[in-house]
Amino acid sequence: MAEIDVWIRTLRAAEPAPMDLLLLADPSVDVIESYLSRSIVYVAERVPSDIIGVCAVLPTRPRTMEIVNVAVSEAWQQRGIGQRMLRAVMEDVCRKHRVSRLEIATGNSSFSQLRLYQKLGFRMSHIEHDFFVQNYAEPIFENGLQCRDLVHLWRDVTPFAEHSEAR
Ligand SMILES: CC(C)(COP(=O)(O)OP(=O)(O)OC[C@H]1O[C@@H](n2cnc3c(N)ncnc32)[C@H](O)[C@@H]1OP(=O)(O)O)[C@@H](O)C(=O)NCCC(=O)NCCS
Repeated sequence: MAEIDVWIRTLRAAEPAPMDLLLLADPSVDVIESYLSRSIVYVAERVPSDIIGVCAVLPTRPRTMEIVNVAVSEAWQQRGIGQRMLRAVMEDVCRKHRVSRLEIATGNSSFSQLRLYQKLGFRMSHIEHDFFVQNYAEPIFENGLQCRDLVHLWRDVTPFAEHSEAR
């Protein structure tokens, strides 16, 4: 399949964040708004002007940032956009923001996300047991399994080097 013509860039001043995409990864507008203004927001733009991906990165500690939201429009998933966006973000935060540690978290039942992040070189650090049970009103089921625990992953991004597990 031909590679899709997208470029990854940060959101421009006064350009609205793509809330429809952010909501794919995080169902709460309130939660999204709590981190959005403090985050660097990257978008994947399909030429000429169609935003099909988003990735928000939040500075948390010195030289550390957390990917707090990553999403690709449903119509464009499974075509490598997520990987390309995450690689571009890793390189950019290292080069421009001198970040050395990048973190991300996902649910215990989010198998494809866990696979994608590990293929990109992220390693598991710790688990917050019952995070989803305690923080969400309704139980969440995914891949035939209850999403209960929040799995934290991290990777070193200095200097950004290709040491992912992908073949
Ligand atoms: C998670 C998410 C961002 C991944 O984005 P994506 O663009 O679908 O991811 P990619 O296409 O890069 O990778 C996914 C799969 O497509 C495969 N792929 C990569 N390039 C490809 C290509 N050119 N053609 C076909 N498949 C391809 C990858 O190998 C991967 O397959 P695998 O799961 O068997 O390893 C996306 O699924 C999404 O938005 N999900 C909903 C929101 C969400 O859950 N966000 C994360 C919250 S923690």
